[in-house]
Amino acid sequence: MKSIRVVVHGALGRMGREVINALCHEPEMQIVGAVDLKAAEDYLPLPDDSGTVPVSSNLDYILTTCQPDVLVDFTTAKAIMLAVLTATKHNVNLVIGTTGLTADELSEIDRLAIEHKVGAVVAPNFSLGAVLMMHLAKVAAKYLDYAEIIELHHHQKTDSPSGTALSTAKAMAAARGKPFYHLLPQEKRPGSRGEQVEGVTIHSIRLPGLLAHQEVILGGPGQTLIIRHDTISRECYMPGVILATKDVAKHKGLVYGLDTLLGLQEE
Ligand SMILES: NC(=O)c1ccc[n+]([C@@H]2O[C@H](COP(=O)([O-])OP(=O)(O)OC[C@H]3O[C@@H](n4cnc5c(N)ncnc54)[C@H](O)[C@@H]3O)[C@@H](O)[C@H]2O)c1
Repeated sequence: MKSIRVVVHGALGRMGREVINALCHEPEMQIVGAVDLKAAEDYLPLPDDSGTVPVSSNLDYILTTCQPDVLVDFTTAKAIMLAVLTATKHNVNLVIGTTGLTADELSEIDRLAIEHKVGAVVAPNFSLGAVLMMHLAKVAAKYLDYAEIIELHHHQKTDSPSGTALSTAKAMAAARGKPFYHLLPQEKRPGSRGEQVEGVTIHSIRLPGLLAHQEVILGGPGQTLIIRHDTISRECYMPGVILATKDVAKHKGLVYGLDTLLGLQEE
C-alpha cells in the first residue's frame, strides 16, 4: 500500500517533535519534510535513525520539494491562515492541532479546503480520552441536574478556565437543552465558588507537577457521578493525530473535532 507522505509544521516544537516521533513508527506513513521558524539546518534527523528529511522555515519551499499528502500543524494561531493558504494552494490535506482559531478562520479553512478539494481536520483536543470524557459528560448531563468541573493544569498555562472546561460545560448544557440547576448559597467570599458557565461551576487549579486533567462531577438526589480524564504525557494526543492523518483525505472541507472522526456525534 502507498504510504501517506507527511510534512510537520512546527516540527521543532513540543508537539511537533512528538508527532514526528509517533509518525516515524507508523508503517503506513512517511515523514518527508519539516517546517519550523526555528529551523537552522537544511536537514532534520528522524528519531528512528531511518535518515534525514529536508527542514526549512519556508513552508512553500518544503511543500514544493517534498510533495506531501498531508500537512500536520502544531504552531500558533497567528501562523495558521498563511499555512492553510499555502497548503491548499498545493492541494495538500491539513491536520491542525493548533488552538485558538476563530469562527471566521474555521469558515475560511472550510472554504479553502472545499475550493481545493482537500480535507482539513481541525481538533482542539486530539486526546481520545479527553474527547470521550466530554462525550460521556454530555450523555450524563441529560439525567443529572447539578454539575461542577474541576480542571487542573500546569502552572504555566495562562488561560483559565481551560478551553476544554468551557466547551465541556457548554456542550453539557446544550445536550440537556437547558442550563444546570444552581441552587447554592450565596458566596460569602467573592471568588470562592469558581466561575459559572450554564449553571456549571468551574474550578481552575494551577500547580507545578500537573499536566492537563479534568473532573466532571454530576450530582442528583443521594448520588454523584464523577468522570475524570488525566493527561500523563503528550503521547496521549498521538493516536488522535494518527487517526486524523490517515482519514483526512477521505473528506473534503472542514472536519471539526476528533469526535466527528470517531463517529461520536451521531450517538
Ligand atoms: N489539539 C491538541 O490536542 C493540542 C495538544 C497540545 C497542544 N496543542 C496546541 O498546539 C500548538 C503548539 O503547541 P506546542 O506546545 O508544541 O508549542 P511550541 O511552542 O512548543 O511549538 C510551536 C512550534 O511552532 C513553531 N512556529 C511558530 N510559528 C511558526 C510559523 N509561522 N511557521 C513555522 N513554525 C512556526 C515554533 O518555532 C515552535 O517550534 C499550540 O497552539 C497548542 O495549544 C494542541
